[in-house]
Amino acid sequence: MKPAQRAQNLPPLFFAALGKRVAELRAQGIDVITLDAGSPDLPPDPRMIEALKRGADDPTQHGYGGYAGQPYLRRAIIDYYGRRFGVELDNRELLPLLGSKEGLANIHLAWLDPGDLSLVPDPGYSSYLYAPLLAGGRVETFDLLPERGWLPNLADIPTASAKAARMLWLNYPNNPTGAVATLEFFTEAVDFCRQFDILLCHDAPYSDLTYDGYIAPSVLQIPEAKTIAIEFNSLSKTYSLAGWRVGMAVGWDVAIEALAAIKTQIDSGLAKPIQMMAADALTGDQSWLEPRNAIYQARRDLCLATFRRLGLETTYPKGGIYIWFRNPPGYSSMDFHTRLLEEAHVALTPGSIYGRNGEGWTRLSLIGDTARLETALTRIERMMKE
Ligand SMILES: Cc1ncc(COP(=O)(O)O)c(C=O)c1O
Repeated sequence: MKPAQRAQNLPPLFFAALGKRVAELRAQGIDVITLDAGSPDLPPDPRMIEALKRGADDPTQHGYGGYAGQPYLRRAIIDYYGRRFGVELDNRELLPLLGSKEGLANIHLAWLDPGDLSLVPDPGYSSYLYAPLLAGGRVETFDLLPERGWLPNLADIPTASAKAARMLWLNYPNNPTGAVATLEFFTEAVDFCRQFDILLCHDAPYSDLTYDGYIAPSVLQIPEAKTIAIEFNSLSKTYSLAGWRVGMAVGWDVAIEALAAIKTQIDSGLAKPIQMMAADALTGDQSWLEPRNAIYQARRDLCLATFRRLGLETTYPKGGIYIWFRNPPGYSSMDFHTRLLEEAHVALTPGSIYGRNGEGWTRLSLIGDTARLETALTRIERMMKE
């Protein structure tokens, strides 16, 4: 007896192996600072927790939450997209998710038949690369390069690949690079996908975690997008709710309906208290987000100043919670990662896990409190000067 091929085909998750090594070091009494994964450390607004508690305390709120979500959450998603992006969603154009990663995986089951092609960015978030394997699909990558601000040149995608492709993934503000996209670029992407009949999948979990007053657009602001695009959004980062698993898919009703059909066989919806909290998050007072983002921005600036002093090239992230910097000369991403972990006891993420174009780069998550971040930077600086 052995597991299915698809389970065997999936590579071990890098962060799981890293977590194991960090636990071993800590068991030896070593103080490891982890700035690898992207789980926000800053808490949600207490008002949201009150909504969650009200739900949890109410004996009528413990049943299934409904495949399509409760009407008040659906209305909250419509309100949020209207207020935040000026995008009018109708009731067939949205679906609550158990975190956006769930939707990222399930859309592949909904859209790819065995052998179908998905076009994915390199570097890019791991789900785009591996979720197609769950559906028996295949992947081709397209380049994101620093000289183009980590935006793809869609015209470089071979016509044969574009004709064969069923999906194309974008993600702005971008993980891991911190790059952002303009509406002009989204227009190009929508036109490209319409030309070749490709489902445009935009992954946008960082759209409200931005800096310097930058306001990230939604791909759905492009008028034709609703006939070709699906956007994944999340409360994990924006509303500091990563562990509670709540997100949404919005956009083209045909794709939403297909995703919903898959999901009815896989999950039974979000817990109602979580839906109450999510609705409150999306529609309540948003003024706490600005000072919260200012804390991440101050951490970003601290890192940028340090890396600049060390002569390390960085991107200038306008959104997301990552610093993307070039390794010191002579290091592969994995070698630099290992030395940082084993000698400086700082866990960062090697850029190479995001694809070929990530080689030579490292990602630091802005998730430690400022004092811990300062200590981590001091350790990195000391190690580099040795
Ligand atoms: C680009 C990107 N997409 C999706 C996710 C998944 O987020 P969620 O917590 O909503 O599943 C992450 C989380 O780090 C991410 O960086």
